[in-house]
Amino acid sequence: MKNVMSMADFSKEDIERILFLAKDIETNPDIFSEALKGKTLAIAFFEPSTRTRIGFSTAMQKLGGNVVEVYESKLSDKMSAPESDEDTLRVVSDYADFVALRHKSRDLVKNLRINSKIINCGNGNDEHPTQTLIDLYTILKEIGRLDNFSIAIAGDLKNMRAGHSLVLGLSKFDNIRLTLLSPKLLSMPTEYLNSEVIEKNNFEFADEDVLYVAGFPPAKEVSDAERESYILHASVLQNKKTIIMNPLPRVDEIDVAIDSMPNARYFEQSKNGLFVRMAILLHLHQSPS
Ligand code: CP
Repeated sequence: MKNVMSMADFSKEDIERILFLAKDIETNPDIFSEALKGKTLAIAFFEPSTRTRIGFSTAMQKLGGNVVEVYESKLSDKMSAPESDEDTLRVVSDYADFVALRHKSRDLVKNLRINSKIINCGNGNDEHPTQTLIDLYTILKEIGRLDNFSIAIAGDLKNMRAGHSLVLGLSKFDNIRLTLLSPKLLSMPTEYLNSEVIEKNNFEFADEDVLYVAGFPPAKEVSDAERESYILHASVLQNKKTIIMNPLPRVDEIDVAIDSMPNARYFEQSKNGLFVRMAILLHLHQSPS
């Protein structure tokens, strides 16, 4: 695996290898503290980010490597002159072993031909594969398996790249009962569906092991009332064991009262990001170019 581009490219074994490595790192972080000494990661984010940007930066530093930041826009006053993002990235790749890239274009990352190993950290509304590896690691830690469980994913499934990658990732595992909950106009595009799913156009989940609230930014396709009907309130979780996940940032799709309930796992999920991002960098380093 030279690049992390799409969850469609991963086999079940690839995913398990990265998650087991993340577990080793979480258990014995000191063993890995010089694993990427002398290597450089360029963080090239052309869209805003908090978790993924500081997460990869911290992960690289904890592996003993170096980090360079490429500033957000070709119009930034940190750049010498406007140039194409492709040209910027080509130059950056001469200095970096890895490029972690976030960009509003779905295609730019797929068409890049650079020497560095590329980590897709979000390409428009298409995919966010590293988020999915964090999500799968969290599910594995919380329920102890990645086969034989039930999960509902709710929100703007048309546009949420984390949701697209998660559905592709889940399709690698066996006997998963996957329910997709969204307004009809914001349903999951068929290009991401290659396993059996149950689709509903309301926010009615049952007793799934996991409820993944994919997020629901204001969308022009739905009324405020319909959007509000997908907000998760504490009262509906009474007596349910379902764990609640969310890639964050939260807009308003999860009531803050849930944060202190035993169901909430989204901040643990975010914290798991460090170990998984370290594992992704190490896995890529160990993979042939
Ligand atoms: N989950 C996620 O991608 O968060 P950021 O946009 O803050 O990186």
